[in-house]
Amino acid sequence: MGSILYLFILMRFLALLSSFHLIVTNSSSSVQQPLCHDNESSALLQFKQSFLIDEYASEDSYAYPKVATWKSHGEGSDCCSWDGVECDRETGHVIGLHLASSCLYGSINSSSTLFSLVHLRRLDLSDNDFNYSEIPHGVSQLSRLRSLNLSDSQFSGQIPSEVLLALSKLVFLDLSGNPMLQLQKHGLRNLVQNLTLFKKLHLSQVNISSTIPHALANLSSLTSLRLRECGLHGEFPKKILQLPSLQFLSLRYNPNLNIYFPEFQETSPLKVLYLAGTSYSGELPASMGKLSSLSELDISSCNFTGLVPSSLGHLTQLSYLDLSYNFFSGPIPSFLANLTTLTYLSLTSNNFSAGTLAWLGEQTKLTILYLDQINLNGEIPSSLVNMSELTILNLSKNQLIGQIPSWLMNLTQLTELYLQENKLEGPIPSSLFELVNLQYLYLHSNYLTGTVELHMLSNLKNLTDLQLSYNRISLLSYTSTNATLPKFKLLGLASCNLTEFPDFLQNQQELEVLILSTNKIHGPIPKWMWNISKETLEALFLSNNFLSGFSQVPDVLPWSRMSILELSSNMLQGSLPVPPSSTVEYSVSRNRLAGEIPSLICNLTSLSLLDLSGNNLSGSIPQCFTKLSSSLSILNLRRNNLNGPIPQTCTNTSNLRMIDLSENQLQGQIPKSLASCMMLEELVLGNNLINDIFPFWLGSLPRLQVICLQNTSKIGMQ
Ligand SMILES: *[C@@H]1O[C@H](CO)[C@@H](O)[C@H](O)[C@H]1NC(C)=O
Ligand SMILES: *[C@@H]1O[C@H](CO)[C@@H](O)[C@H](O)[C@H]1NC(C)=O
Ligand SMILES: *[C@@H]1O[C@H](CO)[C@@H](O)[C@H](O)[C@H]1NC(C)=O
Ligand SMILES: *[C@@H]1O[C@H](CO)[C@@H](O)[C@H](O)[C@H]1NC(C)=O
Ligand SMILES: *[C@@H]1O[C@H](CO)[C@@H](O)[C@H](O)[C@H]1NC(C)=O
Ligand SMILES: *[C@@H]1O[C@H](CO)[C@@H](O)[C@H](O)[C@H]1NC(C)=O
Ligand SMILES: *[C@@H]1O[C@H](CO)[C@@H](O)[C@H](O)[C@H]1NC(C)=O
Ligand SMILES: *[C@@H]1O[C@H](CO)[C@@H](O)[C@H](O)[C@H]1NC(C)=O
Ligand SMILES: *[C@@H]1O[C@H](CO)[C@@H](O)[C@H](O)[C@H]1NC(C)=O
Ligand SMILES: *[C@@H]1O[C@H](CO)[C@@H](O)[C@H](O)[C@H]1NC(C)=O
Ligand SMILES: *[C@@H]1O[C@H](CO)[C@@H](O)[C@H](O)[C@H]1NC(C)=O
Ligand SMILES: *[C@@H]1O[C@H](CO)[C@@H](O)[C@H](O)[C@H]1NC(C)=O
Repeated sequence: MGSILYLFILMRFLALLSSFHLIVTNSSSSVQQPLCHDNESSALLQFKQSFLIDEYASEDSYAYPKVATWKSHGEGSDCCSWDGVECDRETGHVIGLHLASSCLYGSINSSSTLFSLVHLRRLDLSDNDFNYSEIPHGVSQLSRLRSLNLSDSQFSGQIPSEVLLALSKLVFLDLSGNPMLQLQKHGLRNLVQNLTLFKKLHLSQVNISSTIPHALANLSSLTSLRLRECGLHGEFPKKILQLPSLQFLSLRYNPNLNIYFPEFQETSPLKVLYLAGTSYSGELPASMGKLSSLSELDISSCNFTGLVPSSLGHLTQLSYLDLSYNFFSGPIPSFLANLTTLTYLSLTSNNFSAGTLAWLGEQTKLTILYLDQINLNGEIPSSLVNMSELTILNLSKNQLIGQIPSWLMNLTQLTELYLQENKLEGPIPSSLFELVNLQYLYLHSNYLTGTVELHMLSNLKNLTDLQLSYNRISLLSYTSTNATLPKFKLLGLASCNLTEFPDFLQNQQELEVLILSTNKIHGPIPKWMWNISKETLEALFLSNNFLSGFSQVPDVLPWSRMSILELSSNMLQGSLPVPPSSTVEYSVSRNRLAGEIPSLICNLTSLSLLDLSGNNLSGSIPQCFTKLSSSLSILNLRRNNLNGPIPQTCTNTSNLRMIDLSENQLQGQIPKSLASCMMLEELVLGNNLINDIFPFWLGSLPRLQVICLQNTSKIGMQ
């Protein structure tokens, strides 16, 4: 019995197997796709040959050279099986080429074999590097194209509009991210008049520099329109916002484009509306609350005024809301409490009347919250503790009082915390230093007290920016620590009760900004300071200390990217050190530097501010100062022992706004070249040995407000 049953099962199994075999055979023979056409295959191979593979040609982190596996012989030589190649199932013609982020680098022109692939319907060459080629006229041969994506691919020059107009079937066009590309006059108008099938039209960062044609409002199939940073101007045709299919609209950063809103309707499919950096005058219409599909709204930097309409509380789909940098007034809108799906909220810099954060509470999905510069007062509310997804919290530049709550440590995802410029007091809770993901921690300019032990920072492996300046904090154990500290980019320790240079700085080689001002650091600037962060340091602030000099200072200070060097109000002796030629602001006022001003200083051709006042510098002002005059804006040599003539300071490109040479022993005449200091607002030459008649000829300088010549010895009035 058992064996018969077994046989039966076996036979059923064999039958099943054979029918399965049949199906397989059938599908692998007659349903099989035709092979690629030889000439299309060789066109593709020649196309491949005309480029270099360069990993830097694509930005995307998933980029790889798709063409690398294309080959002419042997297995895998059927082009329909190649990566990025799509063939028609019936004819075998190549109908799609999907080579986004393929590391292609090289020029392309109309002789490219690409343009013989006339069956193409979809062409995506985005995120490659076409070496500033123009868009070739050959594109017009691809008249079957429905989708063309050349975004982020380094094309340049005029977009030949007759080329695009030949592509009458286009429904998707993306030329975004080619800032060297221009659409010629009326190009946009011609495009939208003739190609009316568009679903997606993406021209962000293409130089269009025109008005938006009203014909755009006729593209009834349009779902997505991206015209960010296109130099658009004039009136925005508000009918576009009523297009029946439009879901995505970006007009960001067209500062001369004037936005007008229609009366919005509940039926609007709009999901994403980005208007930041366009021009608007007036209030936000209440009908915006009817856009029930809206999930992202960015209207920052548009000069909106008035109240934020409470109808926005109905936009319960909103996940992204940016109202920053406007002039919204009234109380902080309480309807925000209802927007519980928000993940991004920014109210930065508005004219809200003073208010608290009482409305925060229900939101638990927020990851980014910017509430800086909005007149907040009261304490940091404990409702924040529920926002466990927060990565960025910015409450800076308000009037918040009370202590920094220790429960902030529960926001374990925080990477950026900004509490600076408030009225917070009390100690920094040590639990804050357990937020191991922190990259930026800004606490400066509050009334915080107590001590910070340097080794407390050793858990914060990702911290790059730490600003503790201008509180009442003492930093402890900052000399001879053996803790492993973060690699700082910005370190602000002004007013932290330091008496020595923290020697952990010796191991900091990635600093960009170092602030040690207003401490009690004594003695010379140590030799090792000239070796820290040589390649990266851009700003060094050491003013208001008791620094007495420099040990083994090099002729020119070593930091090749230095932009700001602040050494004022110390007791520095010796000769004037010369910062690197990249320096923009150099201030060593109120020190005891002596000797001549080295003419090497004239190498600082980016210098905008030079303040050497209040030292003992002697000798004459180097004649080469004329070289500095096109960059210099403020020149202050007051209260030194300089003698000799006043050098020629201005040429006709001069930017000098303030010249103070007073309280020296400068002699001779006021140089006539000052008459070309067209930007000059203030000229102070008093207390010198100048021998001249009153310089009436300075009266022609349009901005001059202050001339001080008192006690210049022998100014005659004839
Ligand atoms: C084999 O394929 C053809 C065409 O696709 C189909 O008509 C036929 O029914 C298939 N035969 C079997 C046994 O599946
Ligand atoms: C391939 O050859 C066919 C027939 O000769 C021709 O119609 C087609 O344009 C050719 N395609 C390419 C890419 O050269
Ligand atoms: C890129 O363009 C430059 C200037 O036109 C040219 O000299 C260079 O050969 C081009 N490089 C490639 C890989 O095509
Ligand atoms: C087009 O580019 C090829 C190389 O890709 C070059 O050999 C040819 O001279 C170029 N033609 C024109 C008209 O610039
Ligand atoms: C664009 O359309 C207009 C009519 O709408 C027509 O006169 C013109 O020839 C078209 N231009 C091109 C290049 O197709
Ligand atoms: C917006 O306001 C700022 C500051 O008042 C002003 O400078 C700017 O010109 C205004 N922008 C527009 C487009 O009106
Ligand atoms: C907030 O939602 C509640 C109910 O969910 C509703 O009664 C109230 O009107 C809403 N407030 C605003 C300002 O939309
Ligand atoms: C913070 O988290 C701890 C442990 O997860 C918890 O016990 C505490 O109640 C939380 N604090 C607040 C204020 O929610
Ligand atoms: C630090 O940054 C790295 C890289 O961005 C990340 O993988 C890591 O999770 C971050 N946090 C910590 C605590 O290292
Ligand atoms: C250095 O590390 C050792 C061992 O971890 C410790 O005992 C010592 O106190 C540390 N020294 C300083 C100055 O922190
Ligand atoms: C500053 O540091 C000194 C020791 O260097 C200490 O005696 C003093 O108490 C500190 N001041 C404050 C306000 O912590
Ligand atoms: C001064 O500038 C010139 C020209 O930029 C440069 O060759 C020279 O090395 C500079 N001198 C110093 C000491 O930096």
